[in-house]
Amino acid sequence: MPTAAITGSGVFTPPETITNAELVAAYNAYADRWNAGNADAIAAETIVAKPYSSEDFIVAASGIESRYVMEKAGILDPDRMYPRFRARSDDEPSMMAEIAQDAIAKALAQAGLDGSDVDLVICAASNLERAYPAVAVEIQDLIGAGGFAFDMNVACSSATFGIQLAADMIKSGSVRAAVVVNPEITSGHHEWRDRDCHFIFGDVCTATVLQPATDAKGAHFRVLSTRCATEFSNNIRNNAGFLRRTRDQMEDRRDMQFMQNGRKVFKEVLPLVSQHMADHMADEGLVATDLKRLWLHQANKTMNAYIGKKVLGRDPEPGEQPNILQDYANTSSAGSIIAFSQYSDDLVAGDKGIICSFGAGYSVGSVVVERA
Ligand code: COA
Repeated sequence: MPTAAITGSGVFTPPETITNAELVAAYNAYADRWNAGNADAIAAETIVAKPYSSEDFIVAASGIESRYVMEKAGILDPDRMYPRFRARSDDEPSMMAEIAQDAIAKALAQAGLDGSDVDLVICAASNLERAYPAVAVEIQDLIGAGGFAFDMNVACSSATFGIQLAADMIKSGSVRAAVVVNPEITSGHHEWRDRDCHFIFGDVCTATVLQPATDAKGAHFRVLSTRCATEFSNNIRNNAGFLRRTRDQMEDRRDMQFMQNGRKVFKEVLPLVSQHMADHMADEGLVATDLKRLWLHQANKTMNAYIGKKVLGRDPEPGEQPNILQDYANTSSAGSIIAFSQYSDDLVAGDKGIICSFGAGYSVGSVVVERA
């Protein structure tokens, strides 16, 4: 059975950024307007006034300083608070397919491949632009790939679950060159009017190329083993779906956007992920000193510091567990892949590391890789 390898990775970074200062100013202006519009009910104490958000809170609670978005003006408009995306005709590339093409081009260039070499495209993301045709099939067409393509959604673990699927298909011999692409336009399903989470997300797209290790043309990462796990929880939830379309109105969209009970997520996901990684390592005969790098899901700096310490048995050294969330915020399934793509070139043959994502479901996916 061939060993699968990650032979390329790429990141599309959107053109616009929103700093915490810009975000908080827009949110507070929105809160002022909402409070003014509801002044009588607030005075009568039938509803509670919206309190201000703060930059200091955001950095202290999450480590996030800025985020990239596809369109910032709509998000920062206090009368709107969601992005303005131009409606595209069915003859134009869809938005997810367009950013996917950019990330895939970078990943394929690193692998030394052309789109026509690809025979599997998995579009793995936490939200899909439409029900069908699968966005992955459109991407397959745009890059000139053969074979087949399909969409999948495991929320923040979509990328690692996609990598497991692609690696398994390569090992079985059913495909020879796979692309797993993660177009995360989180700004479209984020609730920018909710102070408790308005700072969390950003947009991005990542892509990885997987092939049999024997086909690799340059430096690559052998996929030594993968492990996926899920456990049902309502603590991160988004109710948008085709059965909810009758409720698709501005004032009634809250439960069709991202919702979470952040404190519970924090408490429940940390032990789940730490144990998952410990079990995966033990089954692979790996101990902490075997690992040169951890590329973790990028949701919260404190969370990552905790997981790193649990896995390594000590505080991670600088660079050993790179965080990108200060610049990108939480980019859902793409976070660990951005970290991997931007902080893996310096590893040398034989160095091992783990890519690990976690999130809604709950879901946890880990991929043990070795530089070759
Ligand atoms: N500005 C100022 N204050 C804020 C605020 C904001 N933007 N948001 C919340 N607060 C307040 C709260 O009202 C609360 O006040 P209180 O103590 O008077 O009730 C206080 O700050 C603490 O709020 P809390 O929600 O408990 O913050 P936290 O320390 O748990 O941090 C998260 C919030 C979301 C950053 C954190 O819970 C987290 O990262 N959780 C995991 C998220 C995750 O991984 N989700 C998966 C997504 S895919």
